[in-house]
Amino acid sequence: MDATTLINSFRVDGKVAVITGAGSGIGRASALALAGAGATVVCADIHHDTATETAEEIVAAGGTAEGVRLDVSNRGDVDALAARVATERGGIHIWANIAGIMVEGPFLDAPEADLDRILAVNLKGVFFGCQAAGRIMVTQPEGGSIINASSAAADAPSPNIVSYAICKAGVVQMTKSLAIEIGKKGVRVNAVAPGFVLTGMTGRYFIRPDGTVDEEMQEAVIGPMRKHTPLRSIGEPEDIAAAVLYLASDAARFMTGQVVRPNGGVAMV
Ligand SMILES: NC(=O)c1ccc[n+]([C@@H]2O[C@H](COP(=O)([O-])OP(=O)(O)OC[C@H]3O[C@@H](n4cnc5c(N)ncnc54)[C@H](O)[C@@H]3O)[C@@H](O)[C@H]2O)c1
Repeated sequence: MDATTLINSFRVDGKVAVITGAGSGIGRASALALAGAGATVVCADIHHDTATETAEEIVAAGGTAEGVRLDVSNRGDVDALAARVATERGGIHIWANIAGIMVEGPFLDAPEADLDRILAVNLKGVFFGCQAAGRIMVTQPEGGSIINASSAAADAPSPNIVSYAICKAGVVQMTKSLAIEIGKKGVRVNAVAPGFVLTGMTGRYFIRPDGTVDEEMQEAVIGPMRKHTPLRSIGEPEDIAAAVLYLASDAARFMTGQVVRPNGGVAMV
C-alpha cells in the first residue's frame, strides 16, 4: 500500500454511520468527525433538539446528516431505526454506541431504581445497538464497524461509581465476545475507553443549571485530574472522536475486539 492510499484509508466517504448520544460531548464530536471524513451520519439522541443541532451543523458544513430522537434503552426503537436507515440509505457501515449516563453515590446505599436506570442505558442500550447494527452488517458484503463507549472506569476503579464501572466493564466483554462471533462476516467490533473528558457528563460538577460555569469549582475538579494524569491534561471530545474515526475507517481494518484508550495515560492495560 502506498502512503496516499494509507492516508485515504482514514476517510469514510460513502459510508452510512449511526451515532447514539450524538447530541452532546463525545457523540457529537464523533458525528462531526465522521461527517467531515465523508460519512452520511444519523445523529441519534434521546434529546431530539440536540441531535438535530448536531445534524444541522454537519449539513451547514456541507455534509449529509439527519437528527433523530432515540432512547437506546428501547429495543423496539433501536431496531426500527436500524431497519429504516438501512432501507433508506442503502446499509449501515458504522454504528457507534456512545450514549451514556452517570449515576453516582455510595454503593451501600444505592437504590435498585438507579441500578436499573444505568444498566438500561449503558449496558442494555449498547447491547441493543450492537444487535441491531450487527444483524444488518453481517448481511452486507462490505461488513461494518461497531464502536462502543467504555471508560477508564473499567480499568481503574474509583469510589461511588460502582454501577457505572460495571456497565463499562460489561461493554468491554460484550465488545470482545461479539467480535469473536461476527468477525468472520467482516464486522469489526471495538471499544473506546476515554479518560476524563470535558463534556456535559463531567461538567455536571461545575456547570450551573443556567449553563454558566463555576470556575472555582471547575478548577477544583479538573486540577486533581490533571495532576494524576501522566500527560497532565484532561481530554477534549475530539480526542475521543479521533479514535472513533480511526476504528470506523478502513485504516483499522485489522482491528477487532480491541479497546482503544485515549485517557492521557491514567490507565495502562
Ligand atoms: N466524559 C468523560 O469523561 C467520559 C469518560 C469515559 C467514558 N465516557 C463515556 O462516553 C460516552 C459519552 O459521554 P459524554 O461525556 O459525551 O456525555 P454527555 O452527557 O455529554 O453525552 C451523552 C449523550 O447521551 C445522550 N443520552 C443519554 N441517555 C440516552 C438514551 N437513553 N438514549 C439516547 N441518548 C441518550 C444524552 O442526551 C447526551 O447527549 C458515555 O457513554 C460515557 O459514559 C465519558
